[in-house]
Amino acid sequence: MPEHQAGTTETFSATQAWGEMGEDASILIFGASGDLTARKLLPALYTLWKTGYLPKKSQIIGVARREKSDEVFRQEMFEAVGTASRTGEVTEADWKQFAVRLHYRQVDISDASQYTNLKTSLEELEQKSGLSGKRIVYMATAPKLFLPAVEALDASGMIPDYDNENWLRVVFEKPFGHDLASAKRLSHSLSRHLHESQIYRIDHYLGKETVQNILLFRFGNAIFEPLLNRNHVDHIQITVAESQGIERGRGGYYDQSGALRDVMQNHVLQLLCLIAMEPPALFRGDDIRDEKMKVLQALSPGDQQDISRWAVAGQYTANEIEPGKMLPGYREEDRIPRDSRRETYIALKAFVDNWRWAGVPFYLRTGKRMPYRVSEIAVQFKHPPMNLFTTVECDGDMCAMVEAKPNTLVFRIQPHEGIELSCSTKRPGMQYQIHPVTMDFAYDEQFEIGLPEAYERLLLDVMRGDTTLFTRSDELEAAWKFVTPVLEYLEGGGQDPEFYPAGTWGPEAAERLLEAAGHHWRKPSVNL
Ligand code: BG6
Repeated sequence: MPEHQAGTTETFSATQAWGEMGEDASILIFGASGDLTARKLLPALYTLWKTGYLPKKSQIIGVARREKSDEVFRQEMFEAVGTASRTGEVTEADWKQFAVRLHYRQVDISDASQYTNLKTSLEELEQKSGLSGKRIVYMATAPKLFLPAVEALDASGMIPDYDNENWLRVVFEKPFGHDLASAKRLSHSLSRHLHESQIYRIDHYLGKETVQNILLFRFGNAIFEPLLNRNHVDHIQITVAESQGIERGRGGYYDQSGALRDVMQNHVLQLLCLIAMEPPALFRGDDIRDEKMKVLQALSPGDQQDISRWAVAGQYTANEIEPGKMLPGYREEDRIPRDSRRETYIALKAFVDNWRWAGVPFYLRTGKRMPYRVSEIAVQFKHPPMNLFTTVECDGDMCAMVEAKPNTLVFRIQPHEGIELSCSTKRPGMQYQIHPVTMDFAYDEQFEIGLPEAYERLLLDVMRGDTTLFTRSDELEAAWKFVTPVLEYLEGGGQDPEFYPAGTWGPEAAERLLEAAGHHWRKPSVNL
């Protein structure tokens, strides 16, 4: 059990569930004035502290270009953590104890000449705090600064050998490259300064509790795994839908990126890996990543030659979703060109060409401004071989035949986290009438402790040196390799995104991807 902070009002019981502590280190956040630091990183570090998971001597150092005192930084972070904390109210007393480990250093990250000062002041701080020099550098910066920052760290002697006991671990936020060639270039350039084991590429979806549960559910039960293959599964749908449009200030990034790069290439493909991969020999970082890698290598559009047959892009337009409630179109959003061709929705029909999954379509979609926020994986099984049971349902004069529906196993990633299995049962009565029902496991009904935030888990894993939930360079390249032809096709003018009204399930053309096989997009399960 971790040692709790003396004098806190700690009652949060997630600690037993989290296992091993990390090691004492200096945690440098490059790009500390940004949104990510305030919305995710500091709230996560605070919760780790509050739950006894921030190693006692660890210091957090915000690094950015603006001039700021420690005090101002602490006050800003107090407000940020107060808004985003999931452990309830942040009291002044708790904050006082936490904030002593919070510091700010003014550095222009792109200017290598400023790193010597940073190093000196860091060494002083480490000496005062009894730290041995283990360091985490979190790159919460614009991607163009990744390489210059790493070069400058190296030039100032801040990158130790990878096997040095005073380790350095560098965490990179996405986007890591913008296509296959640039991702390869970046990996190659970084590899001149950092060993792969020093690099932690974040995909925050992997930090989500429900995403980790996919592997546990699959390989911790004996009854489902034998069914998850081409003999029993008809098709799989993976949806990451967001109701929000483009947040203020993000338009510049998003219009360069689009749905394919922003969510499909990383979050959706990671979900696909977890549902499709083989069991690893051991539940260990590289064994798991090796299995995910095999899925990505087997990923293909099947025999669909023409990209328009397996990819559909969309862009949302203004829509009045209820009387008086108008949502703006993508082209009207902040910092978006009025004639932008950028996709805010992408759907793909893919195959995993291996023994287990050959011939099973994987339908993948993600988009902004959809009716509600929902992420799920739905495994639809085949129909029973015979329709022994039917029910005639009549509504007035209208009668319809109800037959067995295929079973569906749904992993609800968010919201209403859980797993559901739909089945058919006998409707009570004197006849054999078939009736669809759902067996449902909901996290909030089963467990009292709240689900840890993705960034809490991921930051803790960096402190522990556990790379299981981080993307390895070969995985990343394999994912880019799969999406790059689609990117080139869209950006080369092969297909204009089809418009869809904001607040709907995407362009009509997306149905086309499924029609040939007689499939339809699900309306994802969500208890609104
Ligand atoms: C990020 C994307 O990686 O994931 C955002 O850049 C997107 O555009 C977000 O909104 C979705 O994450 P979550 O955890 O809210 O589903």
